[in-house]
Amino acid sequence: MRIILLGPPGAGKGTQAKLLSRKLGVPQISTGDILRIAVKARTELGRAAKVFMDRGALVPDELVVQMVKDRMQLQDCANGYILDGFPRTMTQAHSLVQILAPAALPQIAIDLEVAEDELILRLSGRRVCQDCGFMYHIEFAPPSQPGTCDRCQGGLFQRDDDKDDAIRERLKVYRKETKPLTDFYQKKGLLRVITAEGNVEDIHDQLRKLLVKEGIIGQA
Ligand code: AP5
Repeated sequence: MRIILLGPPGAGKGTQAKLLSRKLGVPQISTGDILRIAVKARTELGRAAKVFMDRGALVPDELVVQMVKDRMQLQDCANGYILDGFPRTMTQAHSLVQILAPAALPQIAIDLEVAEDELILRLSGRRVCQDCGFMYHIEFAPPSQPGTCDRCQGGLFQRDDDKDDAIRERLKVYRKETKPLTDFYQKKGLLRVITAEGNVEDIHDQLRKLLVKEGIIGQA
């Protein structure tokens, strides 16, 4: 099972990838999450990536491609994966073709479409637990007690790149660097589009129905 989730910042790639991963039993490979762990651990990769991430720019392709290659070597990817946030440039899309044997090309690239006003609302209201990483939204998915994680009581924080200037930059970068990937996958006959607005569970259902229709998973 080799699924790519495309879509702008805030489209819900991470939210939906987590639900699908749990349902389908294959890992979510989120380049954003891997990079944030490296930043927190202050590794060489993390130090190099932080300057780009904080201002909403993309981390250089060579760093990200090597990171994904390494991640895909792990045993839990033997039956597939859900790519969340990768590829994000044409160079990364071409590298993915090279990383994978031709027989293992992605089976489907799903573009999650959301209006820009809604993206800004979602990103500016996102809060994340500093201890367990669980994600909230101050309006759409608030914690029971403001500022505190329901799961582990950790403190919630706002990502540096969820502040106004960085959000604007990320959306600009998305339009220039990542949106063209929809044409790339369209030409390969792999692109499917979902309107990812509304209830999280309804969007998950739409995704599952699409995967059934495409023969990627059985009825479940
Ligand atoms: P990354 O973490 O990948 O950020 P992103 O693509 O900008 O995506 P987000 O995590 O912001 O949004 P999402 O679509 O996953 O939505 P989510 O489910 O979180 O990357 C961060 C940075 O790392 C990049 O800017 C770059 O610097 C670097 N990077 C990462 N990958 C890279 C790559 N391949 N190459 C180069 N650099 C790379 O949801 C967002 C919010 O909306 C949450 O609060 C959630 O609760 C809420 N929400 C979700 N669904 C709904 C819904 N249906 N209704 C209402 N609210 C919802």
